[in-house]
Formats: sequence, C-alpha cells, structure tokens
Amino acid sequence: MLVSAKEMLEKAKAGKYAVGQFNINNLEWTKAILQTAQELNSPVILGVSEGAGKYMCGFKTVANMVSAMIDELKITVPVALHLDHGSYEACYKCIEAGFSSVMFDGSHYPIEENVEKTKELVNVCAEKGLSLEAEVGSIGGEEDGVVGMGECADPDECKMIADLGVTMLAAGIGNIHGKYPANWAGLSFDTLDKIQQKTGVMPLVLHGGTGIPAEMIQKAISLGVAKINVNTECQLAFAAATRKYVEAGKDLEGKGFDPRKLLAPGVEAIKATVKEKMELFGSIGKA
Ligand code: 13P
Repeated sequence: MLVSAKEMLEKAKAGKYAVGQFNINNLEWTKAILQTAQELNSPVILGVSEGAGKYMCGFKTVANMVSAMIDELKITVPVALHLDHGSYEACYKCIEAGFSSVMFDGSHYPIEENVEKTKELVNVCAEKGLSLEAEVGSIGGEEDGVVGMGECADPDECKMIADLGVTMLAAGIGNIHGKYPANWAGLSFDTLDKIQQKTGVMPLVLHGGTGIPAEMIQKAISLGVAKINVNTECQLAFAAATRKYVEAGKDLEGKGFDPRKLLAPGVEAIKATVKEKMELFGSIGKA
C-alpha cells in the first residue's frame, strides 16, 4: 500500500538521515527502485514529473502500476508515490489518481499567490491524508522544459510557507537539476542553516541530488534535509549500461534485441545507483 511521506520524513529528520526520492519513467525503473528499497529495508519515494506522467499514459496508469507492483512484489517497506514539481492542475489530477504525495511548485508565482494556492492544497491533502511539498526559491537548471535560475530561498518566505501546514519544504540553496557545472559555487549552508532555524522540525528537501559531493550531502542532512531527489544519476547509469549492451551487439541473428535482455543491464545499473544513494543518505534499515 502507498503511504504519505509525512511519517517517513519526520522520522528521517529526527534520526538525522534522508529518504531518497528516485524519479520513475517506466516499469523497469519502478521495479528496480522498489526491489532495491525492499532488499535494503529502506523507505523510498517514487517521484513522477508531469512529463514522465504523460509518457507513462497518465497519472492513473502510474498509480495503478505502482500499487499493483507493490502488491505483486510483496513490498513491505514504506513507499510514497509523489508528484514532482507539479503545477496546481497536476496536483489535483494526482490526488484524484491515487498518488500519496504531491509537490506544488508555486515558486514561479508571486509569493501571495503561492501562499493562497498552497493553503488550499494543504487543506485538500490533509483531508485525504496525503503529504504536500512546497517550494520556495527556484532550483537551478532545466527540468521538463522549466528553467529555474537557482536563487537562494528567503528564510522568512520559507517560514511563511512552512507555517501554512505543508509536510515538507524544498528550498533553493544553490542546488541545480542535472550535472553541476565546473564553476558551481556549492550549496549555501548559511542559507540552509537560517531556513532550518526558522522552520524548526519541518523536513527540508534537497532537489538536484545528482553529483553533489558526499560531504555536502552529509552536511545538508545534519542541517535538516530529510528528503533528497535523484533523477539524472539514474538516467546516466541506465544509458551507459544500455549503450554498452548494444555496442556488444548481442543481436538475435538479425531479429533485433530481446527487449527484456536489452533493458536488464540498465535495470542493474539503476539498482546499484539507488543502493549507493541509500547508503550515503543513511536510510538503509530504517523502514
Ligand atoms: P537531478 O536530476 O539533478 O538528480 O535532480 C532530480 C530532482 O531534483 C527531481 O526533482
């Protein structure tokens, strides 16, 4: 059964570790992430961007696939199915489809409108037992065609949004989606520290988990980060393993590749990436 991310993140924040959100794009990725979480006895959050939802035939298909997989694979660790960077409209579609968690990315609205829409969603999610993530300050880089400038969040705005009753808060602290450029200034721990002081026990979310050095991840966790999002690293691992398999040319005598065998090395690569991240985040054995 899918669960809200509330309890797992509150436990993580109190226990000074973080739960990984791994984005899913298809059946193979989903299965790889669920099996790894179960094997390592770790809670996990499956992230679905609006683009990935569209690709997988809509949020209803995704929710049904994930729920059926949890059942068929006998997954007993806590799993949250979470809309990643959702628009206001997509939040409602996911709530309707059976997701257990949503992110309302209102960071591009003026703060008053972000507050108003977030308040409304806080009430809807509370009524249905879903967790809600809000964002303050934008995360740099490009995701699904949305380009964020990556400015650091204002700690007072973070407090204002946190006080509305959201479950977890994503705050821009210099993090970027995708690969970090060579001249990246690093995470602003000063900003993170101020945000944590203003928001207290609220679990904080770090987007752009790919390519952040291990010591920065650990420091971020020590300053209140309890959820870390990873997408690009799984994508890179999957692509490299698939390319290697294709280049080795295990073609079925002119009949092409067996699709299951073709995707298997990529699946193994995702499992290894998820395991490495769960080790770094400290979530193993915490289910
Ligand atoms: P990366 O693609 O940089 O790992 O970021 C993922 C993310 O933050 C999804 O919201």
